[in-house]
Amino acid sequence: MTTSDHEHHHEPTDATTDPAEYWEERYSGAEPVWSGRVNTQLAALTADLPPGRALDLGCGEGADALWLAERGWQTTGVDIADTALHRAARAAAERGLDPELVRWVRADLATWTPDGRYDLVTASFLQSPLDFPRTEVLRRAAGAVAPGGHLLLVSHAAPPPWAKGLDPSTHHFVTPEQEVAGLDLDEQDFAVVVAEERTRPATGPDGEQAELTDTVVLLRRR
Ligand SMILES: C[S@@+](CC[C@H](N)C(=O)[O-])C[C@H]1O[C@@H](n2cnc3c(N)ncnc32)[C@H](O)[C@@H]1O
Repeated sequence: MTTSDHEHHHEPTDATTDPAEYWEERYSGAEPVWSGRVNTQLAALTADLPPGRALDLGCGEGADALWLAERGWQTTGVDIADTALHRAARAAAERGLDPELVRWVRADLATWTPDGRYDLVTASFLQSPLDFPRTEVLRRAAGAVAPGGHLLLVSHAAPPPWAKGLDPSTHHFVTPEQEVAGLDLDEQDFAVVVAEERTRPATGPDGEQAELTDTVVLLRRR
């Protein structure tokens, strides 16, 4: 999904180094954290793929997973935060989605292993200020892509202009080159379809408009 219109950044505190606690806290407010709209890049890059099994890692409140399910993908959304998954499940019910088409799994991706093969594995803004074995998680995810299937990673390439003074030791940004290199996948096995920065419009906390830059990597398993 698109990250929140108001791209707030939260510093972890000593009290919240546990990922489940930290993310639960992020979702503890009465309002949704994210926009509820599908991620612009994901919508553009998956619109023409034939629906199959899809896996959304760090699905949050489910906008991407729901969008995929509405297009006929048999979708699994995984997240560590119960509150986010409850919101996703509620949105699925409100939209009248066939319960057979979407399922929500509460798991810590640091240790979770995908169950079976997926025609599409996506991770949108799977970036954490806590210790998180992101590369390991993404490599495991790549291993779960079925032959002919795709891995789509959309990430923050840079902080938004209104996020001043972010701690660089906890806020990690990634370039397309770093993303592809970090995956260290066998070229015989995966073809790089897209590895580039793309921009999208966003609104800051005080209503300021800006173009945010995403790193977009789409790989296809041969
Ligand atoms: C920046 S949010 C992005 C959410 C959603 N994909 C989107 O694009 O709006 C990162 C998500 O990853 C989840 N997450 C972070 N660490 C995780 C972990 N170790 N295991 C599972 N999910 C995790 C968080 O709960 C959060 O929902």
